[in-house]
Amino acid sequence: MAEVERTPHTRTASYLAEVGEVSRVLLLYSGGLDTSVMLKWIQDEYEAEVVTLTVNLGQPGEDYELVLDKARRIGAIDTFVVDAREEFAREYVVPAIKANALYNGAYPLFTALGRPLIAKLAVEYARQAGCDTIAHGCTGKGNDQVRIEATIATLAPELKVIAPVRGWQMGRDEEIAYAQKHGIPVKGATEAVPPYSIDDNLWGRSSEGRWIEDLDHAPDDDVFQLVTRPEEAPDEPELVSVEFERGVPVGLNGERLEIVELIERAGALAARHGVGIVDHLEDRIVGLKVRDIYEVPAAALLLTAHQELEKLVGTIHQNQFKPQLDRQWAYLVYAGLWWEPLRSDLDAYMNAVNEQVTGTIGLKLYKGVARVVTRESPNAVYDAALATFSESGGLFSQQASPGFIELWSLQSRMAWQLRQRAAQDART
Ligand code: ARG
Repeated sequence: MAEVERTPHTRTASYLAEVGEVSRVLLLYSGGLDTSVMLKWIQDEYEAEVVTLTVNLGQPGEDYELVLDKARRIGAIDTFVVDAREEFAREYVVPAIKANALYNGAYPLFTALGRPLIAKLAVEYARQAGCDTIAHGCTGKGNDQVRIEATIATLAPELKVIAPVRGWQMGRDEEIAYAQKHGIPVKGATEAVPPYSIDDNLWGRSSEGRWIEDLDHAPDDDVFQLVTRPEEAPDEPELVSVEFERGVPVGLNGERLEIVELIERAGALAARHGVGIVDHLEDRIVGLKVRDIYEVPAAALLLTAHQELEKLVGTIHQNQFKPQLDRQWAYLVYAGLWWEPLRSDLDAYMNAVNEQVTGTIGLKLYKGVARVVTRESPNAVYDAALATFSESGGLFSQQASPGFIELWSLQSRMAWQLRQRAAQDART
């Protein structure tokens, strides 16, 4: 196939900003190497002012004073930090719990849930601060660019976007050299092994890069910074109960907790017992297949409990049907379409089902496993007297069962006979 000639300035999307169109940029700033280099680079390259926004979604061990200070030193004219933990938990994580959200049955979507909120906040702050453009640090290979730019283009068609990392040819070493040349402080610049690429928030943590890209390389111990390795976990199991009201977790071990604290505590409990390690081969939305190491203790505990409670209060028909919608919900959110109306359509269904999801699930945490051991709900579609082996009678008449079986299996039996006859005819 012939190479297509393209100048670097060809606009591939209407929302992308050209040099000359930009006067004030809101930069989504983490304080890390990429976005610090961007902060300086945008000022020089676009001759634009830069305002930074840093969003707290509950990523542990972050010093926001340091991040703010660094942004000012690199020339930001204004700097904002927003604590969005509550909004993240309520408006993004709770709907994910109601939808038992696991992409590919394994990834609880913490990054995918965080990006639309981060981008929504970027839009709000950009408008407030009089910016014409939003800049972010995503590469051209990931899902995050899709989630962020789809959000901005949806919510704020008037704003433009720049994604310098996607365009510039700098690798890590060149970025470090650029930073050093411009007096940008870099931590870990002298480390022989580059660090893992980490993304984390309240709902989980991912590691990428280094040996993780070798599919036949089993995880090195040093990747696990959140969850205790199961072999190191306590020798004694621990019981934990999770209380739900209408699909929302509201208590742990009988203690009522606000949602952010509940998620944090659930995460700490599960992490201690090695629960929530996922070694995931993932189909990205941009076509790549990659491997991620996830540490998702809170999600492993709360999703397991929620799913079990839902099963207890749902009918066989609801329980057969909902996983299909759960899967669609997770896929949409993974794929960056948080603002797609189908997502809110699906939420309406999730909310309807979750009206009944009230009760308590007990789990036993032990060396990497969270196993459900007790279930209780006022809405349980369960009657021990009916299910018991010890007696019969009441609402359930066993005498009716053969009649049911005869009709239930009618079409299957007819089809079976037809195929038998056809096979016989073929033989003779
Ligand atoms: N693979 C996950 C996702 O696409 C997590 C990616 C986290 N890494 C990152 N640099 N954002 O949602």
